[in-house]
Amino acid sequence: MQRAETPVETAEPVRPTLPPPLKWAGGKRWLLPHLRPLWQPHRHRRLAEPFCGGLAVALGLNPERALLNDINPHAINFYRQLKAGLKVSIRMVNDSDHYYDSRTEFNRLIADNRAATKKAAALFYYLNRTGYNGLCRFNSRGEFNVPFGRYKTINYTRDFSAYRGILSEWAFSCGDFESMALSPEDFIYADPPYDVQFTQYAKENFRWEDQVRLAEWLARHPGPVVASNQATEKILELYRELGFEIDTLPAPRMISCTGDRSKALEMLATRNL
Ligand SMILES: C[S@@+](CC[C@H](N)C(=O)[O-])C[C@H]1O[C@@H](n2cnc3c(N)ncnc32)[C@H](O)[C@@H]1O
Repeated sequence: MQRAETPVETAEPVRPTLPPPLKWAGGKRWLLPHLRPLWQPHRHRRLAEPFCGGLAVALGLNPERALLNDINPHAINFYRQLKAGLKVSIRMVNDSDHYYDSRTEFNRLIADNRAATKKAAALFYYLNRTGYNGLCRFNSRGEFNVPFGRYKTINYTRDFSAYRGILSEWAFSCGDFESMALSPEDFIYADPPYDVQFTQYAKENFRWEDQVRLAEWLARHPGPVVASNQATEKILELYRELGFEIDTLPAPRMISCTGDRSKALEMLATRNL
């Protein structure tokens, strides 16, 4: 008589998923249905993101191990504090006077070399939620200068301890993408500022030379690579010539600066998958 087979325990432990804690221009949450099938066969690898921005992709793919980089020191400080179990105790209200006072306080911390602190992370979170469109913009003196956002209501999170477990094996670095300490087996997802004029994500613009420098850097990586960008002719040609496989898909934004109401196209370039 055959015995019933004992079920083999194959299921991986389920990791909780959490939403991106900051508002971030150019967030790629909408791309996740396209990225998940590319990532799935490689999920045992470390996810490396040279432009992690608002963490929409990292939190969406939810890898066990990750190396996440961005040139924005305030976002990276905030994530490092999340990893340490940030609890925000400063006053957070949707009020213009309090917003501008907090902005001044944040700029004082930057001027005093105290931008890499828990206090700066708490203020950065409050300014990000309360300021105009979640923008992160600085004037020529390096001061945060985003105006009050005029939202009707804002829900502030105070206790970020739920992020602690998810981020425990994630490392954060701050700098230009080329300074990342990659391993050859890393799975790279690269989402740079778009190839358009006047992108002002960071103090320095991401120029065409940077797009070329990035594409060539990605082409040298021996592990799997996925890159997204605005599907302009120049970008498509750049990645095609370097031997990437190219896909395009409609993006949830319009080509508005030219008055054209058609949907913009997004490029997904892949290699070594
Ligand atoms: C399109 S956003 C990334 C958005 C992110 N994928 C998300 O879903 O939230 C581009 C990011 O590149 C960063 N950045 C700009 N120039 C950079 C550079 N040279 N090296 C690294 N990061 C850079 C900006 O600070 C910005 O956060």
